[in-house]
Amino acid sequence: MGRTEWAASARPGPRCLNARVDTLRIGIIGTGNIGTSHARSLHHEVSGAQIAWLYDADTARASQLADELGANVAPDVARLIASSDAVVIASPDALHAEQALMCLDAQRPTLCEKPLAPTVAQAQSVVDAEVDLGRRLISLGFMRRFDPGYVALKDSLTTIGDPLIVHNVHRNSYAPYGLTTSGTLTNSAIHEIDINRWLLDDDYATVQVVTGRSGPRTPEGEFDPILILLTTCRGVLVEVEAFVNATYGYEVRCEVVGSEGTVEMGDGAYLTRRSERAIGHDLPELWLGRFEDAYRRQLQAWVDATHRGRTSGATAWDGLLATLTANAAVASIGHGPHAIELPIRPALYAQP
Ligand SMILES: NC(=O)c1ccc[n+]([C@@H]2O[C@H](COP(=O)([O-])OP(=O)(O)OC[C@H]3O[C@@H](n4cnc5c(N)ncnc54)[C@H](O)[C@@H]3O)[C@@H](O)[C@H]2O)c1
Repeated sequence: MGRTEWAASARPGPRCLNARVDTLRIGIIGTGNIGTSHARSLHHEVSGAQIAWLYDADTARASQLADELGANVAPDVARLIASSDAVVIASPDALHAEQALMCLDAQRPTLCEKPLAPTVAQAQSVVDAEVDLGRRLISLGFMRRFDPGYVALKDSLTTIGDPLIVHNVHRNSYAPYGLTTSGTLTNSAIHEIDINRWLLDDDYATVQVVTGRSGPRTPEGEFDPILILLTTCRGVLVEVEAFVNATYGYEVRCEVVGSEGTVEMGDGAYLTRRSERAIGHDLPELWLGRFEDAYRRQLQAWVDATHRGRTSGATAWDGLLATLTANAAVASIGHGPHAIELPIRPALYAQP
């Protein structure tokens, strides 16, 4: 399919969501790192979907990807949503809620990148809109729920008695969006906030951030690395080291300590090499190298679920709880443990 600029004649009319379609026409908002990765994966690796429309504030960036994939460039977000069967939001964090609300207004199934929003008020507005609609359309991009390592870890929890403590490590080579301590919590460590809640099937009761000496690339007044200490409602301790300027590579580890044993997800994702009197393995520079398979599985699950009129993976409710916990963590800096006040779960989110 050759690329077309927006014109009335080029605009495919929106299709009835209930009509049976074999190939979903996907629109992607934001064609930076992850938007480009999702677009290529949907185009080359995922069945049941095609990239129809792209939009980015940087039109040249969207056009380049559209040429590569034979897609079209939409003139704005509203018209991308109107012409697509389903939408992926891969724009910067602060825009997610506003664009998710537009997708809900147009009743388009949407895969929204994490976080649902950086602020609780924005995240709550998306949940409220979905509840008003009476129907779940938002799937949230907490792709670790699709990672074979985390899935195996969750499956193995039945073999170690009662989970008591979880140790997590999340290190980035560098801070991709600039380093602020609040950004580490609402953008990066929010992955651990979600995945531990999912692993343990438990909500959080308290959170506390502990700061210490920072690395040389940390701006004045910010902290890196930090420790995040959470307790769940059933009393499990969850500890997270978040280090966004670790420089040496991208690494994620998770060990669950139970009453009858421990289980750890870590270096097993890579091949171990022995050579030159040394033993080791390469580390990826970025998240894409570690979670490529999880992103692909997440996209396929979302496309399959959309064909069945369902959502997949994390919900807007999961997104709200993650944002709420991340913001409570920010509020705890320099203070003691912060109690997390859980809102009442709407019936819409009663089922997984
Ligand atoms: N799930 C994950 O593991 C994961 C990994 C990376 C990024 N993300 C999330 O994806 C989002 C994008 O991250 P990224 O690394 O691709 O960032 P990026 O900066 O590479 O890309 C963002 C793109 O959005 C575009 N943009 C800016 N304003 C826009 C607007 N009004 N409408 C549409 N597009 C606009 C920018 O021009 C840019 O191309 C972030 O929210 C980030 O948290 C998630």
